[in-house]
Amino acid sequence: MDSILVRGGGPLSGDIEIAGAKNACLTLMPATLLSDEPLTLTNAPRLSDIKTMTALLESLGAEISSMQEGKVQTMSCHGDLNPIADYEIVRKMRASNLVLGPLLARLGHAVVSLPGGCAIGARPMDLHVDALTALGAEIELRDGYLHAKTQGGLKGAVHKMRFASVGATENFVMAATLAKGTSVLENAAREPEIVDLVSCLKKMGAQIEGEGTSRIEIQGVDRLHGATHPVVTDRIELGTFMLAPAICGGEVTCLGGKMSLVESFAEKLDAAGISVVENARGLTVSRKGDRVQAVDVVTEPFPGFPTDLQAQMMALLCTAEGSSHLEETIFENRFMHAPELTRMGANIEVHGGKAIVHGVERLKGAQVMATDLRASVSLILAGLAAEGETLVSRVYHLDRGYEFVEKKLSGIGAQIERVQS
Ligand code: UD1
Repeated sequence: MDSILVRGGGPLSGDIEIAGAKNACLTLMPATLLSDEPLTLTNAPRLSDIKTMTALLESLGAEISSMQEGKVQTMSCHGDLNPIADYEIVRKMRASNLVLGPLLARLGHAVVSLPGGCAIGARPMDLHVDALTALGAEIELRDGYLHAKTQGGLKGAVHKMRFASVGATENFVMAATLAKGTSVLENAAREPEIVDLVSCLKKMGAQIEGEGTSRIEIQGVDRLHGATHPVVTDRIELGTFMLAPAICGGEVTCLGGKMSLVESFAEKLDAAGISVVENARGLTVSRKGDRVQAVDVVTEPFPGFPTDLQAQMMALLCTAEGSSHLEETIFENRFMHAPELTRMGANIEVHGGKAIVHGVERLKGAQVMATDLRASVSLILAGLAAEGETLVSRVYHLDRGYEFVEKKLSGIGAQIERVQS
């Protein structure tokens, strides 16, 4: 298993390229199941999660070819489709559940294993099941699989979700594109990845309004056609790399970054004493002062502070002046990086879904273990600012969500390398 070795060092400077969004690509790819014509995605990120989704779609009957080393993916579902998403693939990644809505819409039935993914809480499927049931699906759980069927296809309906789940919104919207009549989703999630999905579905001929708001209306159509779509910028990779100069000092431009993707996060950086300036090339981030100031953070659905940047933000606040209060409201078990950061000299108290980070002057390098995707990169960020060497093990989590992370960070002056065991 590979590890990442980081040597703490001085200020960083230069440009860093931000990839297409993993979470957008993982919902755009299953959208190919809705049409028998090819869907081409450009600006796809090169990640192991994308390979997992490729394997899953191929197992369902999709033909997939990639160009530019995976940056361009063309998918086609013109032949017979297999309605069964097998546990062996689904267990690797929770986003596999995003094939349920499209398979139901296209075939009228589907059998999808309950998913796996990062161990950051229970992450049930009830909101997906409720949303698709509202469209007329009959779904039951047997042998660890969701068995879903319809009587003569899905039918448009009004549904209000009790929580604005990202995945359940995506499944509902994709399923409703081919349902009979009009569907309305209330309390829909508003994440940019959903706006990107809808933008692609519209290119495929879907009739949808209200994406980016909490009420999405879909007018069902008989069929969708092929399209070409560029994947939106990854706001989580963007936020992660914005933290590199924030933590180490210096000035870095995140190419292609947009303020609208990270507004609430950038507000917290500003309060901590980090400058973020939007320009034609992207977002330029710099730390002028010696230490950042403590800030309080509460994770919320978009447009609030993203849970997927909470671990990385904690790494920054470990060396802030003062005490910061962090509250995680999306996932119930998402402070697993705290004990690892403590091994590096951080002073963190965790009480259930709340953590208090008492800033220390300097972190110290240590051997630490990545426990999930975002936790793994938070340890790398902490290592960049620590005294001495930090060895982060179990980096397969990292490869699920960050492409060429060592290359990208070396490019702005970080001392980082992959150690193969
Ligand atoms: C997506 C993102 C993930 C991000 C999360 C929240 C993808 C591939 N992943 O995950 O990176 O951290 O949004 O921004 O886009 N829940 C239920 N029942 C359900 C579904 C969810 O109770 O049926 C709960 C979950 O346990 C969790 C919360 O709702 O506590 C948020 O989950 P959701 O918004 O569905 O996240 P994902 O779509 O899984």
